[in-house]
Amino acid sequence: MKHLLDLRVLRVEHLHPDYVLLVLTLPGQQLPDMQPGQFVEVRVDGSPSTFLRRPISINRATPDELWLLIHSIGDGTRRLATLQPGDTLNCLLPLGRGFTLPERQAAAPGEARHYLLIGGGVGTAPLLYLGERLKALGQHVTFILGGRTGGDVLQVEQFKEIGSVCITTNDGSLGEKGFVTQHSILQEGRFEQICTCGPKPMMQAVARWAHERNVPCEVSLENMMACGLGACLCCVEDTRHGHLCVCKDGPVFNTDELKW
Ligand SMILES: Cc1cc2nc3c(=O)[nH]c(=O)nc-3n(C[C@H](O)[C@H](O)[C@H](O)COP(=O)(O)OP(=O)(O)OC[C@H]3O[C@@H](n4cnc5c(N)ncnc54)[C@H](O)[C@@H]3O)c2cc1C
Ligand code: FES
Repeated sequence: MKHLLDLRVLRVEHLHPDYVLLVLTLPGQQLPDMQPGQFVEVRVDGSPSTFLRRPISINRATPDELWLLIHSIGDGTRRLATLQPGDTLNCLLPLGRGFTLPERQAAAPGEARHYLLIGGGVGTAPLLYLGERLKALGQHVTFILGGRTGGDVLQVEQFKEIGSVCITTNDGSLGEKGFVTQHSILQEGRFEQICTCGPKPMMQAVARWAHERNVPCEVSLENMMACGLGACLCCVEDTRHGHLCVCKDGPVFNTDELKW
């Protein structure tokens, strides 16, 4: 069920000049249940160029708090980055189909699967919540977080509370130098499921790597969106099952479904 809610800004954390974490709450009520990989359509008030809502991933959700990680790249996200505690943000949520979670908690360590979650830039946003939920379900989680520079690799301490964290940067200022698909852990580790979100070329390289090793892989697509509800068809992806709306049938897809 979707909800249209006026959420209150509880905290604003400037993680880096270009990235802001908004912590939102629903005063006097609990937030609806949200799944990792689902997203929120936020209304950006006070700007004629941001008539359409902007899709933002669920970075973390509890009954009391919703976290949105914003990368300021245009009018809408720059305006979101100016929000202050006490401001109101109108949100339509939760939207889309998220990552596949195990049906039940691993009863013993031997039953746990080893998940590799790979994110690039602000594409790491949904992986924090996904990792948290997988850990709660008793699964092993390893992250590879990639960025252009160290400043683009965010929330590292929170990721470390969930699982092992590997980092790559294009300029080598943090972690190993190179792309996420070049990290040395990929030579050493054995993974049973891969989930990824970030720039399309990065996700395609991850999908190729997974396919060559027969490891199932889910990707979260970030096609341009307008309605977020499957009505305007502006987010359509040509898949093996026909043209699907990324906002409604995704944004998470198994790579076997995609024509990559
Ligand atoms: C499912 C989904 C989840 C997302 N999660 C997040 C998130 O957690 N945090 C975050 O900061 N951003 C996220 N995005 C991207 C975000 O929606 C866009 O960056 C935002 O809509 C840009 O709005 P703007 O007004 O700031 O920029 P605009 O002025 O509209 O555009 C500025 C630039 O951004 C590009 N752009 C616009 N929309 C998108 C898009 N959907 N994907 C990629 N590039 C785009 C435009 O081509 C243009 O070059 C997500 C997108 C999708 C589809
Ligand atoms: S954004 Fe309108 S159909 Fe997907």
